[in-house]
Order: sequence, then structure tokens, then C-alpha cells
Amino acid sequence: MSKKDEKEKAIALTGDSEASSPPDGAKKEENGSGGSILLFFIVGFIASLIVGWIVFPKLLYSQKKQPIDFNHALHVETVDEGCQSCHFFRDDGSFSGVPKLTQCTGCHEEAQGEDPEETKLVEEYVAKGREVPWLVYSRQPNCVFFSHAAHVKMAKMECVTCHGPIGESSHARIYEENRITGISRDIWGKNIAGLKRNSWDRMKMDECAECHASEAIKTEVSIETPMLGFFNNIIRLAFPGTEKPGRKNSVQTQHEACFVCHK
Ligand code: HEC
Ligand code: HEC
Ligand code: HEC
Ligand code: HEC
Ligand code: HEC
Repeated sequence: MSKKDEKEKAIALTGDSEASSPPDGAKKEENGSGGSILLFFIVGFIASLIVGWIVFPKLLYSQKKQPIDFNHALHVETVDEGCQSCHFFRDDGSFSGVPKLTQCTGCHEEAQGEDPEETKLVEEYVAKGREVPWLVYSRQPNCVFFSHAAHVKMAKMECVTCHGPIGESSHARIYEENRITGISRDIWGKNIAGLKRNSWDRMKMDECAECHASEAIKTEVSIETPMLGFFNNIIRLAFPGTEKPGRKNSVQTQHEACFVCHK
């Protein structure tokens, strides 16, 4: 190989030659700015993901602690009638909801143990006759009408379906409140995109409506396969008005049925 050949090879490898220098220079510049645009895009994309998934929820929700760290697991063992000892239906069918202080004083008139949470309960609330201002995770907006009797008594649903396993918890979890609407985060759910894995992950209108729609089908056919429900939905759409009248059909999500859940 001659010296000239070697030089030519080197030029070919580096792509550098005096003859082609003007267009090449332009090309290099283009490449450079293309790279920084890509980098800019990636950095911006990652930054907006961080803002959307981490910073935004932190800003949107304020965190509050329950006034007393209540231990469900411990109490379910201690009381006689399980959940119903504290959450029961009154004679008129209405639901007692979160227990009143009088339901605690039977056992906590005075502190039984050394637990600081119990001392707080006795000193701040029992002794002063003040109700504990519990925060309700599942609290819906004021315009919503919800009846526990319809779900727990009539439809025989489990608490866990809507509330998750709070009955087995040994600590009260943090309550998160949407700073703009003042509504509990449990309604929208933890997932910012509104996705859910468990039936209790969110409680928006869609969730209520989805179950009401599928429940209505279940009782007509009495087989609980999702595919059958899907075909029945198609049949109901194709031949409206063919569904049998019945108690379960009272819950609809059609226009005139807004007042089933709204007041
Ligand atoms: C059937 C009796 C009984 C009733 C009713 C009862 N408790 Fe208790 N509670 C206990 C016992 C037993 C303990 C465990 C011993 C202790 O720490 O004093 C306890 C412990 C506690 C403690 C400290 C332990 C912890 O971290 O939770 C708190 C706080 C408490 N109870 C709150 C309440 C509240 C609020 C109510 C009313 C909604 C209530 N209890 C109703 C029996 C009862
Ligand atoms: C000794 C009384 C007591 C017993 C027994 C009890 N709870 Fe509770 N429950 C409470 C108190 C007090 C609160 C409010 C504080 C809190 O949210 O932890 C509450 C709150 C709840 C909530 C939260 C509602 C909301 O959205 O904020 C649910 C759901 C619940 N209980 C379900 C259950 C279930 C299920 C059981 C039975 C496995 C049960 N409880 C047994 C006293 C009791
Ligand atoms: C179909 C879903 C569903 C089921 C099943 C259900 N709940 Fe609820 N629960 C709700 C909703 C929704 C709210 C909020 C109601 C509101 O804000 O008006 C609520 C509210 C509550 C509250 C707070 C109520 C208040 O007024 O302070 C308690 C306590 C509670 N539920 C306990 C229970 C227990 C215990 C069971 C099982 C026996 C149960 N829930 C079953 C959906 C359900
Ligand atoms: C997992 C299923 C399920 C979920 C979730 C659910 N429901 Fe229901 N709901 C039912 C069933 C089943 C009935 C009983 C229907 C009947 O017997 O007429 C019912 C009945 C009702 C009724 C009584 C209406 C009537 O005509 O009898 C109201 C009001 C209601 N639901 C509101 C709500 C609201 C509001 C939500 C959401 C916060 C909700 N439901 C979530 C299953 C569900
Ligand atoms: C199965 C029960 C159910 C039915 C039926 C229903 N809603 Fe709702 N709706 C809810 C619940 C629960 C909420 C609160 C949670 C949310 O914001 O999604 C709500 C919230 C709303 C809101 C937002 C109000 C606010 O303060 O956030 C509007 C508007 C609304 N519903 C309109 C309607 C209209 C119009 C209909 C009739 C086509 C209807 N709803 C039927 C359960 C229902």
C-alpha cells in the first residue's frame, strides 16, 4: 500500500476531505441540534412525568391524621358482635355510620392500659364529653344519596367490596383531601390516571353505575360470567325494553334515573 492510498483510506474512514467540507459542515451542525432537541425532549418528558405523577398529587392533596389512631383489628377481637357492635343498622333501616363517643365509653370511661392513644381518647374526648371528629375516607359530595341498607341488607354486599380491608387494619391510615374540591382522595382513588386493581380503589360515579348495570343483568340470567353479561348488554341495546321488570331494575343509569343517587 502506498502512502497516498493510506491517506485516502484514512479520509474515507473519518469522512473528512477538503473537497466535501462545506456540505459536511452543514450536516454536522444539523446533527448537533437534532441531538440537543432530542435531549431537550427526553428531559422535558421525564420532568413532566415527575410533575404529573409525583409533584402534582403532592400539591393537590393535603394529608390529615385521624384524631385518634384507631385499631380495628384489636377491637374486632374484643367486642361481641364484630363490626355490628359499632357499625349497625337502626330500627328505621338507617346506618349508624362512624360510632359515637357513647359507644366507646362503656369500655373507656377510664384508661384501661398505658396506650397514649387511649389516654388521648379519655382525656381529650371522654372526660370533656366531646365527640371525636373522625375523618370519613369514603365521604361523597353532598349531592350524592347513598344507602347502606340497599347494599348491605338487600344486596348482601360485603363491607370490603367498597371500603377495602379497613376492618382488619391495626392503624388508621392518613386521610387525604383534595385541596380544590375538599373531597376525600378515596373517591378519585390513589392512581392519578384513575385506574384501579381492587373494587375499592375508587368510588366515582362510573364505579357505582358499572356495578348497578351488571347487577341488573345478573338477576335476569343468574349466571355470573362477564362474557354473558356482555352479550346480554348487546341484546338489551338491540331490543330495548325487553328486560323483565324487577326490583334490581330499579337502579338504572338512564337520564330519568339520576335521582336514584342524587338529591
Ligand atoms: C368492648 C370494649 C371496648 C369498646 C366498646 C371500645 N374499646 Fe377501645 N379498647 C378496648 C380494649 C380491651 C383495648 C386494649 C387495652 C387498652 O389498651 O386499653 C382498647 C384499646 C383502645 C385504644 C388504644 C389502642 C389503640 O391503638 O387503638 C384506643 C385508642 C381505643 N381503644 C379507642 C376506642 C374507641 C374510639 C372506641 C369507640 C368507637 C372504643 N375504643 C371502643 C376495648 C374497647
Ligand atoms: C369498637 C368499634 C368498632 C368496631 C368493632 C369496628 N369499627 Fe369500623 N370504625 C370504628 C371507628 C371509631 C371508625 C372511625 C375511625 C377510622 O376510620 O379508623 C371506623 C371506621 C370504619 C370505616 C371507615 C369508613 C370511612 O370511609 O371512613 C369502615 C369501612 C369500617 N370502620 C369498617 C369496619 C368493619 C368492616 C368492621 C368489622 C370487621 C369494623 N369496622 C368494626 C369503630 C369500629
Ligand atoms: C356499595 C358500597 C358500600 C358497601 C358495600 C358498604 N359501604 Fe360503607 N360507605 C359507602 C359509601 C359510598 C359511603 C359514603 C356515604 C356518603 O358519603 O354519603 C360509606 C360510608 C361509610 C361509613 C361512614 C359513614 C358516615 O356517615 O359517617 C362507615 C362507617 C361505613 N361506610 C362502614 C361500612 C360497613 C361497616 C360496611 C359493611 C357492613 C359498609 N360500609 C358497606 C359504600 C359502601
Ligand atoms: C359492587 C356493586 C355496587 C356498587 C359499587 C354500588 N352499588 Fe348501589 N346498589 C347495588 C345493588 C345490588 C343494589 C340493590 C338494587 C335493588 O335491590 O334494587 C343497589 C342499590 C342502590 C340504591 C337504591 C336504589 C333503589 O332503587 O333501590 C342506591 C341509591 C345506590 N345503590 C347508590 C349507589 C351509589 C351512590 C354508589 C356509588 C357510591 C353505589 N350505589 C355503588 C350495587 C352496587
Ligand atoms: C349509581 C349512582 C349514580 C347515578 C345513577 C347518577 N350519579 Fe352522578 N354521581 C354519583 C356519585 C357517587 C358522584 C360523586 C363522585 C363523582 O364525582 O364521580 C356523582 C357526581 C355527579 C356530578 C358531579 C357533581 C359533583 O359535585 O362532583 C354530576 C354533575 C352528576 N353526578 C350528574 C349526574 C347525572 C346528570 C345523572 C343522570 C344521568 C347521574 N349523575 C346519575 C352517582 C350517580
